[in-house]
Amino acid sequence: MAIERTFSMIKPDATARNLTGAINARLEQAGLRIIAQKRIKMTREQARHFYGVHANKPFYEELVSYICSGPVVVQVLEGENAVTLNRQIMGATNPLNAEPGTIRKEFGIELSQNSIHGSDALETAAAEIAYFFSGSEIVG
Ligand code: RTP
Ligand code: MG
Repeated sequence: MAIERTFSMIKPDATARNLTGAINARLEQAGLRIIAQKRIKMTREQARHFYGVHANKPFYEELVSYICSGPVVVQVLEGENAVTLNRQIMGATNPLNAEPGTIRKEFGIELSQNSIHGSDALETAAAEIAYFFSGSEIVG
């Protein structure tokens, strides 16, 4: 298996409940290395770009407002099979459907407030990483 990099974001519901460290512990216990990380308040412009793939969905405006509603922690994770591994430990989009032991099952509240984002493919990972981080901010 190849060493990959993926983009991760701890969402406002989790930062509000002081769960950054608990979620990072899950990531690290699973073998992912946090090789870049910063806490930011996303602008509406950043959020609209980040969730651009959902621009035609009925929940788009709500999603943009939610992700700008508080601090988020954006991260680059590195490890073997990182994209798929991270999606596995995050769990299903809706915490109600997530497997026991996953981050969204343990910490998520509902579909919007589901605590964490992770890239869904290598190509989107590369684009999301480049959007939020410069090369010098990533130390592998
Ligand atoms: P994410 O992008 O946040 O990692 O989540 P995902 O791939 O599992 O889900 P995706 O389909 O990309 O949706 C992005 C986020 O939009 C919210 N959502 N709301 N109201 C709705 O029907 C609805 N559907 C999706 C979720 O918070 C999801 O994480
Ligand atoms: Mg997604």
